[in-house]
Amino acid sequence: MDVSNTMLLVAIAAAYWLWFKRISRWLKGPRVWPILGSLPGLIEQRDRMHDWITENLRACGGTYQTCICAVPFLAKKQGLVTVTCDPKNIEHMLKTRFDNYPKGPAWQAVFHDFLGQGIFNADGDTWLFQGKTAALEFTTRTLRQAMGRWVNRGIKLRFCPILETAQIKCEPVDLQDLVLRLTFDNICGLAFRKDTRTCAPGLPENGFASAFDRATEASLQRFILPEFLWKLKKWLGLGLEVSLNRSLGEIDGYLDAVINTRKQELLSQQESGVQGHDDLLSRFMKKKDQKGQSYSEGFLRHVALNFILAGRDTSSVALSWFFWLVTTHPTVENKIVREICSVLIETRFDEVDRLVYLKAALSETLRLYPSVPEDSKHVVNDDIMPDGTFVPAGSSVTYSIYASGRMKTTWGEDCLEFKPERWISPDDGKFLNHNQYRFVAFNAGPRICLGKELAYLQMKTIAAAV
Ligand code: HEM
Repeated sequence: MDVSNTMLLVAIAAAYWLWFKRISRWLKGPRVWPILGSLPGLIEQRDRMHDWITENLRACGGTYQTCICAVPFLAKKQGLVTVTCDPKNIEHMLKTRFDNYPKGPAWQAVFHDFLGQGIFNADGDTWLFQGKTAALEFTTRTLRQAMGRWVNRGIKLRFCPILETAQIKCEPVDLQDLVLRLTFDNICGLAFRKDTRTCAPGLPENGFASAFDRATEASLQRFILPEFLWKLKKWLGLGLEVSLNRSLGEIDGYLDAVINTRKQELLSQQESGVQGHDDLLSRFMKKKDQKGQSYSEGFLRHVALNFILAGRDTSSVALSWFFWLVTTHPTVENKIVREICSVLIETRFDEVDRLVYLKAALSETLRLYPSVPEDSKHVVNDDIMPDGTFVPAGSSVTYSIYASGRMKTTWGEDCLEFKPERWISPDDGKFLNHNQYRFVAFNAGPRICLGKELAYLQMKTIAAAV
């Protein structure tokens, strides 16, 4: 290498070093490394990632900025991540400037093959239209009744008998797996009125459930790779991309058969004038899109898949943490059992609604162990957050739901303690709804979880049965 090339390299390295020193002073969060930004820290702490993010947020007063690509121009754009758990910032993103913070192109690309333009993966007008249609359905009493029916059926016919058999034989049960199977059966019943019976004696394998799991895992794996890399893997047909492709084929085949049966049923119902079914798929099949046309099969498939993804793991994860917390807090367990007994002595009508302490214990579980521990949004235009943080267009904002429930500034000195009492009004003993931007486990603003009330109904019924 001649002298001029060496000098050029030294000059570039020195300029980079000066730039890097400036940017690392400007970024408030965890240590950043040349080129790799804060990725080494994230990888090192991957087993306790949410606790690590919480510690960083505590040290920085609720918001910090870091970069996952310490390269000039990118570090303050696509490579910049603002991490926050400040309720005012969260409200700003999820409500006040909702349009400026969509899920964004990177998120949509990752999930497009699996979830298409379904409600969970849509932004803008596509989301608005589906959200309105779905929101109307979620407020109907018949959907609540349908959820009640599916849950009670699964509990009575299979969940409780499995637990009873294990008790008689003194055998251990994997409660987490059992609850996951039960909530999968519940949500499939609600979404397209099919009893998948994965929660059954002998814990049978179900092709649709396994394909769904593989597709979820393969889609999530795309998140940890740069976009060009997973797209290349998809193009070359490598690794989990092969599994994704195969699983999507199985899922499509299964759902196409369900949709075709439902179409036949709807036709014969129209002819005979008999009342229709109350599952979500049938409800969407009777509706028309923005152009006044019936939905395509592909769209209907995605509707069903989006609802399954939204309502399956979320409830089962929350219940698993709930059972763990309750077994480690005997006083809370006693109070729950006493409440269930006294409500059942009084009435057998709308009894689940009266289980206030149980709802408080479930909410407290979700505060400490939210099923969705963090979420991310894309910044469309330059903006300033209420706490003064400048967020440039093209960057992303991650809000840590896990950290939100663990901040002394929001929940007080005892924020790490499991205390269902904080959800009960001292004045009238009724359930106390905390501000939705402080308790973000169900998201907040226009994109708040549509299944929140159904989830409470489902979780209370299962918890009370155990
Ligand atoms: C403990 C149980 C649950 C929790 C913690 C939970 C949490 C959430 C969260 C955090 C989101 C926002 C996700 C995002 O935008 O990235 C969401 C959205 C949603 N949830 Fe739930 N969920 C639960 C149960 C359910 C159930 C049982 C259903 C359906 C029966 C459901 C239906 C939905 C739907 C349709 C959306 C999309 C709303 C939209 O984007 O407009 N959820 N949920």
